[in-house]
Amino acid sequence: MAKKSVEVQVFDSDFQVFLRESVTYEIKMESRSSSRLRSVVLICVLLAISGIVYVGYFCPDQVCALTSRETSWSDWTPFRLPIRDNLGKPLVIHSEPITSKISSPGLSYDDVLNENFQFDMNAHDVMVFLHIQKTGGTSFGRHLVRDLDLERPCTCQRKRKRCYCFRPNRNENWLFSRYSTGWKCGLHADWTELTSCVDSELDKNEGDTVKRRYFYITLLREPVARYLSELRHVQRGATWRNSRHWCGGRPASREELPHCYKGASWRGVTLDDFAACPYNLAANRQTRMLADLTLVGCYNMSYMPSKAERDRVMLASAKRNLASMAFFGLTEHQKVGQYVFEETFNLRFLVPFEQHNATLSSMALNTVHRDQLDKIKKLNALDLELYSFAKKLMFQRFTRLKARDPQFKERFSHLGELPGRQNEAFNWDQALYEDNVHNGITNMSNNVTPLN
Ligand SMILES: *[C@@H]1O[C@H](CO)[C@@H](O)[C@H](O)[C@H]1NC(C)=O
Ligand SMILES: *[C@@H]1O[C@H](CO)[C@@H](O)[C@H](O)[C@H]1NC(C)=O
Ligand SMILES: *[C@@H]1O[C@H](CO)[C@@H](O)[C@H](O)[C@H]1NC(C)=O
Repeated sequence: MAKKSVEVQVFDSDFQVFLRESVTYEIKMESRSSSRLRSVVLICVLLAISGIVYVGYFCPDQVCALTSRETSWSDWTPFRLPIRDNLGKPLVIHSEPITSKISSPGLSYDDVLNENFQFDMNAHDVMVFLHIQKTGGTSFGRHLVRDLDLERPCTCQRKRKRCYCFRPNRNENWLFSRYSTGWKCGLHADWTELTSCVDSELDKNEGDTVKRRYFYITLLREPVARYLSELRHVQRGATWRNSRHWCGGRPASREELPHCYKGASWRGVTLDDFAACPYNLAANRQTRMLADLTLVGCYNMSYMPSKAERDRVMLASAKRNLASMAFFGLTEHQKVGQYVFEETFNLRFLVPFEQHNATLSSMALNTVHRDQLDKIKKLNALDLELYSFAKKLMFQRFTRLKARDPQFKERFSHLGELPGRQNEAFNWDQALYEDNVHNGITNMSNNVTPLN
């Protein structure tokens, strides 16, 4: 049994997440021959590293074309290099099953690393929406299929509760999300599930000859507000029971992830009971859903017995994956999110994102006692740190985009207003009301259930 050993370092500056997936393998079940095996492995590793160093640093540009300063090369190397912010760039490495396509031709790094790099709907670029529960993602997902100003708008079919979001020049999906492709990789699939699945799912429909570029996007929300919102959703009967929690080649077993409730749902659960269940995935949900769970042995808690270590690795991995995303938005900062999305993808929404008070955490907190609040914060400590990291990073991206946009003022004060196009305000309160797993895309004015 080979066990990946992982080293993760998070330095003072939140922004610099260092994560190293060491190439040394521990050979368990040692036998006499294992030390020889080890030295062979070590030599191979050294050779590989020197090869990488050579190619990555000394090979001249004209020959290798891989040494651009803008590379996300650090993702590859076993060295401790800073993870660079991946604004506008795809998550290249992990968006495909390592085994099947990583070495196949087709992807030009020159394209990927080009300064003028753009999301190209006519080529093989795919936007993948990682939808975390209770972040306002349902409505955002709807607006992705309904309200983008596209050369070829998505065509939505009420009966099938689906939209076809095809490229202008051929019938291939450019958007992987619930309302376009469906929950093809599982209900509310997380980073681990999506990255091991999206490519092969698209292969099924479109053949595996193309090399696609993936642009992951997601929304994050202030963790305490999100947690309370999930509580209310569970009180109304939501379970997300059908989520697979696929990781390491199989779904999590019932032993690894026991239900917190007996019977069909956890309807009417109190906050205290909700918080007391150790298997409740609501706690630190955002971190778990963004982390590469294979690093911590998936849902097998005995793989990494130290909780502190597990937490540290998950948080660092989540930060790193977030920074690698082409776009992420914060529910609390709609306008900024809209601007960053539009600038990043060079796409425009036909509606303005509006900020409403119900999305702000203070509203949700009125009903919660002091000690309950402390408990929630403790349970969501990783998410709180992830969120503050995300906030900084998002405003860094915003500042960068703003600085290079001569029309910023004009643009920012007229987001979602395109001349000659109909405007309909994007109501974020309604968005959160509607964030219901079982709803389809039937009628925007239906399905509005009260939040509190
Ligand atoms: C969980 O991890 C431990 C330690 O790595 C291993 O011995 C055990 O077989 C794993 N359990 C499952 C169900 O994979
Ligand atoms: C929303 O919040 C703002 C500022 O906190 C306040 O002035 C306004 O009255 C609030 N609106 C509603 C509908 O509660
Ligand atoms: C959507 O629902 C609203 C209210 O239920 C109804 O008035 C409207 O006609 C419906 N629209 C469509 C297109 O079905």
